[in-house]
Amino acid sequence: MSIKAIEWLDDRVKILDQTRLPRKEVYLELSDYQSIASAIVELKIRGAPAIGIVGAYAIALSALKIESAQKDEFLAKLRIAIQTIAATRPTASNLFLAIDRMQKVAEAGEDVKQIKAALVNEAVKIHAEAAELTRRLSRHGAELIKDDFTILTHCNAGALATTGYGTALGVIKQAKEQGKNIKVLATETRPLLQGARLTAWELKQANIPFTLITDSMAGYFISRGEVDCVIVGADRIVANGDTANKIGTYTLAVLAKENGIPFYVAAPTTTIDTSLASGDEIPIEQRSPAEVTHIQGVSIAPEGTQARNPAFDVTPHRYITAIITENGIITEPYGEGIKGVV
Ligand code: MRU
Repeated sequence: MSIKAIEWLDDRVKILDQTRLPRKEVYLELSDYQSIASAIVELKIRGAPAIGIVGAYAIALSALKIESAQKDEFLAKLRIAIQTIAATRPTASNLFLAIDRMQKVAEAGEDVKQIKAALVNEAVKIHAEAAELTRRLSRHGAELIKDDFTILTHCNAGALATTGYGTALGVIKQAKEQGKNIKVLATETRPLLQGARLTAWELKQANIPFTLITDSMAGYFISRGEVDCVIVGADRIVANGDTANKIGTYTLAVLAKENGIPFYVAAPTTTIDTSLASGDEIPIEQRSPAEVTHIQGVSIAPEGTQARNPAFDVTPHRYITAIITENGIITEPYGEGIKGVV
């Protein structure tokens, strides 16, 4: 069964509510940019490429609703929607790349009617391209996966996060389709359990053998030689190869290096941001402490407990064995490699 995380329905967008998985498959039909912005903030739709796609649809939907026939007035109203979408989640570059593309299309348009049609076309194009990129990068990445490998993955970098095939999970699915005998160790991914809820759900659907572990068990399994490689997705890769991804990724990269196993990042080039020189410059989303003190709404800490909740961390490029993109696999020196694939 192919997973449809996002579907465009001409005057609304349909998303699979990821906060309800795996217990319920609930679809939401959203027809205005404000409700899409809320869905992004609440992680009903999540994952770097998926956020870019729904962000683009949100801008297209807001354009369709603007009544001004005069271009300047139309663009001023559109800018309000764009600012709202841009303020949802700061880390993933895909969102800002999609916004940039939509903005350019809006500004280049002749008249309001033509701009509205062009914005819808562009959003549909961003969606189709994103799906295709994950198929291509998965084919490249599968070359790195050998028969009988046990692969550790973190968070969810599958079809839910990307549409299409997935990035880290796309590589895993492709290796399985090539007939390789593989197993997956999936980290639960606290605080919001994307691994336990979403990766486990996708792997089960794809019939790929997997075992769920808590994040803190990774060192135990890696040090015992039970993991052949780690593969994760990315939210933003900068010019020197430093990579922001789900909190806990950096820990896994250090563990991989210490224990001599490869650490792979799989991401489309839409996740690469060459405007930043190093990972220190990546804005890291800080989410509500309640996501740490509570699990699915149930309090697990004494009342009044202080908590911190950075959603992402940055893995320095020296820990990354290779970055898998749709345009090929790159290794150190990343500065050169990144210029080559973008
Ligand atoms: O907070 P999330 O669930 O949106 O975080 C997602 C991740 O960190 C993914 O690994 C990343 O976006 C890559 S998805 C292909």
